[in-house]
Amino acid sequence: MSSDRIAHAGLAAKRRSAEEAAALIGNGMTVGMSGFTGSGYPKAVPLALADRINAAHEAGDPFQVKVWTGASTGPELDGALAKADGIEFRLPYNSDPIARERINRGEMQYFDMHLSQVAPMAWQGFLGDLDIAVVEVTGITADGALIPSASVGNNKTWLDRAKGVILEVNRWQNPALEGMHDIYYGTALPPHRVPIPLVHADDRIGEPHFRCDPDKVLAVVETDSPDRNAPFSPPDAKAHAIAGHLLEFLGHEVKMGRLPASLLPLQSGVGNIANAVLTGLIDAPFENMVAYTEVIQDGMLDLLEAGKLRMASATAFSLSPEAAARLNGDMARYRGKMILRPQEISNHPELIRRLGCIAMNGLIEADIYGNVNSTHLMGSRIQNGIGGSGDFARNAFISVFMTPSTAKGGAISAIVPHCSHVDHINQDVQVIVTEQGLADLRGLAPRQRAELVIGKCAHPDYRDMLKDYFARAMQGSYGLQSPMLPGEALAWHQRYMDSGSMKA
Ligand code: COA
Repeated sequence: MSSDRIAHAGLAAKRRSAEEAAALIGNGMTVGMSGFTGSGYPKAVPLALADRINAAHEAGDPFQVKVWTGASTGPELDGALAKADGIEFRLPYNSDPIARERINRGEMQYFDMHLSQVAPMAWQGFLGDLDIAVVEVTGITADGALIPSASVGNNKTWLDRAKGVILEVNRWQNPALEGMHDIYYGTALPPHRVPIPLVHADDRIGEPHFRCDPDKVLAVVETDSPDRNAPFSPPDAKAHAIAGHLLEFLGHEVKMGRLPASLLPLQSGVGNIANAVLTGLIDAPFENMVAYTEVIQDGMLDLLEAGKLRMASATAFSLSPEAAARLNGDMARYRGKMILRPQEISNHPELIRRLGCIAMNGLIEADIYGNVNSTHLMGSRIQNGIGGSGDFARNAFISVFMTPSTAKGGAISAIVPHCSHVDHINQDVQVIVTEQGLADLRGLAPRQRAELVIGKCAHPDYRDMLKDYFARAMQGSYGLQSPMLPGEALAWHQRYMDSGSMKA
């Protein structure tokens, strides 16, 4: 008997329990899971797999898998599998606290890679074989095509590359999602690559469904579970100040004729500050904007509702429960204004460069020359991962990084003499914003950049310390292109690790 979500009779006949499906996954296998920033990830099979792994470990048997995803998922996937010590290796971006802890304890290998490169590397084959794909979908059509869920991520690639496929059909996902997706099947490896025919952020170049050979499908599991959907905290005074500086800068660029009045396609990173900037855009004088970004978060929805944003292209939703309810309540209307694409398209360097995106991402620390660390605390402890920040920063028309000027109640300065880890080299960082001010680093040489970053972005508690370091580096440096005292450059980090504060 078919269900209303599974119109293909052959696939309806493959309905299994989550436990039966999880039994198809064995120790040592590589599993490609759907999921991107907490949406569209499988919710039943990973939990059943974690139970299997726990049982194996209790019996003294080894059981771990390698997990590939789109980006971060949810507690039922990364959380449950990491808790069971069931993940031997994981890629790419992770924000799950339990998995993060295991990675930082050295109990899990984590390959943190640019999100645009995951699918191409999987096609190239050197990530190894993909045994099983576990992919959440909204439904299955009568001819066996798959209606994508609230994220697209790498699902097209997992369905294509995996030897066997397990589908989770999630009744919670709104059936009106059908038609929102644009799955492009024209990508190839060199020497057969051709230009991707996307010229405007709102171009549709693909098809609404995933193709999947029904014979490859091993099991279909029906679920009815919400996405993770974490609430955003309301913007605080610092987030408001950062948003204010950035919006003033964008207004200035329009006035100078360097940006059109509708700006250029916006990319907005993850987190509360990025969301605060989007919220600030509601009252800003820019109309008819578009977004070419990775995730659609609450602020984007608000901009669409306010009529300021014409359309948003992304690969996934990352919404609060309240915004998810709003979206679900009015999906048919939103569908015309949103496009979800595979992440190798949403984050494609060539497309980002061609469209001229304005990239706005968070950072952990920046140094006085404008190198940026987005991933590691004190140089060694992973926070989340690079995500799409590298895809966008290097290729954007304007690449902006933003952060409060201090962390941990003021014990850490986000502006340091030398980054303890570098994700974005100074050539890829054009603007740095803190609540203190904005440094426009375009066209500036390193010593000019340092003066601006210290003067505009550093917290007053650390400004004199940075000036003092820079002045002494000018005296005692091996060269004066980027003055540096190697023996002192990371002393602030060491002091924090020793005493709990970077302050002298
Ligand atoms: N040194 C040490 N710790 C620091 C720090 C620093 N310079 N800056 C922040 N932290 C700590 C915070 O105190 C916090 O710790 P806690 O969880 O124990 O409270 C943690 O790091 C996270 O900081 P927070 O300010 O809450 O981060 P955020 O939500 O604003 O996110 C990033 C900032 C950089 C972690 C986030 O933007 C990110 O993951 N970026 C990389 C991926 C990306 O840019 N994706 C978007 C591309 S499309």
